[in-house]
Amino acid sequence: MSATTPQAVTDRLGRPVRDLRISVMDTCNYRCPYCMPAEKFDDNYQFLRPHQRLSFDEIVAIAEAFAYHGVNKLRLTGGEPLLRKNLPQLVQRLNAIDGIEDIALTTNGLLLSRQLPDLVAAGLKRVTISLDSLDAEQYRRLSGNRGDLHTVLRAIDTAVASPLQSVKVNCVIQRGVNEQQVLPILERFRHTPVVVRFIEFMDVGNKNDWHREQVITAAEILEVIQAHWPLLPLKPNYRGEVASRYAYADGGGEIGFITSISQPFCGDCSRARLSADGKVYTCLFSSRGHDLRPLLRAGADAKGSHSTGADSLKEPRPLSDSTVAALRQAVADIWARRTDRYSEKRSELRQSRRNKTSNKIEMYVIGG
Ligand code: GTP
Ligand code: 5AD
Ligand code: SF4
Ligand code: SF4
Repeated sequence: MSATTPQAVTDRLGRPVRDLRISVMDTCNYRCPYCMPAEKFDDNYQFLRPHQRLSFDEIVAIAEAFAYHGVNKLRLTGGEPLLRKNLPQLVQRLNAIDGIEDIALTTNGLLLSRQLPDLVAAGLKRVTISLDSLDAEQYRRLSGNRGDLHTVLRAIDTAVASPLQSVKVNCVIQRGVNEQQVLPILERFRHTPVVVRFIEFMDVGNKNDWHREQVITAAEILEVIQAHWPLLPLKPNYRGEVASRYAYADGGGEIGFITSISQPFCGDCSRARLSADGKVYTCLFSSRGHDLRPLLRAGADAKGSHSTGADSLKEPRPLSDSTVAALRQAVADIWARRTDRYSEKRSELRQSRRNKTSNKIEMYVIGG
């Protein structure tokens, strides 16, 4: 299959599709209260069964269809992506797709150190590790009593020492929870290649009991930081970049802010998201995904290629030309109809969706 004559597609607001975020695993080894609160995601919670997850063949086929329409960046997410077996094999295959220039991974970092060499060898270029506290006890609490701070800090060091092009840390600061962590986290990573980004606490999903008052905005955090270390704004690296970037005036490196609440950035949003069970979401706050599995599994050529949970190392199964064409068409149709700009219309949409249950996709399904 080849993507030699890509067909750029734009949505109804003129935005191209450039970035595909692929959730390879819906489960997680953490239970962060703002994402998978332990009381709601207990031992009885029904996650996807292995056969419901896309196989590597299916993920690659979908990624190829997106690349054909202009995607050049892929990000692997979860839940926790490192729980997916044989992930380096997937990275290698995604890396071979025409047009794909960049593959990144978002992880909580607990399982990273051991898997990193194989992932890098397979073509992984960047990692982003979540870290909301440097206090070991608080870190553990914020992971739902499952994480270990020191293991994750070691993983960050391992990533910095590896040939990866970039290592970032994502940090969500919540009022009344961890606001005292801003300066310690920055202190730890100043004068290192690690870029810390503060993500404003968002109303993703329906289970995290979000209230506007819990949000500490980028402006508030900026004020705290400026009082310690003066910062200079940096120009975006590319159009539609999620984070606003700053550099320490003293040369201590770079930091960023992801301001979905205080300064939405929907205008240039070129991100599509694929869930582990094959649904495409055109916004982090979508209510509904577009299921591509029927298309993939209809073809006799794809029969039996669903995931057993342990994707084998066997040769990939080629899809028929008609399935390839149908997938590409489906992706173009989904994107061409897109009008999402949830963050820009947050108050209005929250009001109109009020009292409807389960009306937004959960964070762990699409991985942020
Ligand atoms: P790179 O520029 O490729 O490094 O990635 P990025 O800036 O998109 O970073 P990353 O994928 O790590 O995103 C960081 C976090 O920002 C995500 O985990 C989400 O919580 C949030 N985020 C990313 N994309 C969007 C988006 O389109 N909308 C909103 N509201 N939040 C987003
Ligand atoms: N608001 C902001 N960020 C969130 N994340 C998970 N849930 C939320 C939320 N409600 C972050 C995680 C991780 C990234 C994938 O998204 O901390 O860094
Ligand atoms: Fe926490 Fe990420 Fe797991 Fe959600 S997916 S519980 S944010 S580690
Ligand atoms: Fe894109 Fe939706 Fe986020 Fe806006 S809210 S930036 S449309 S994902």
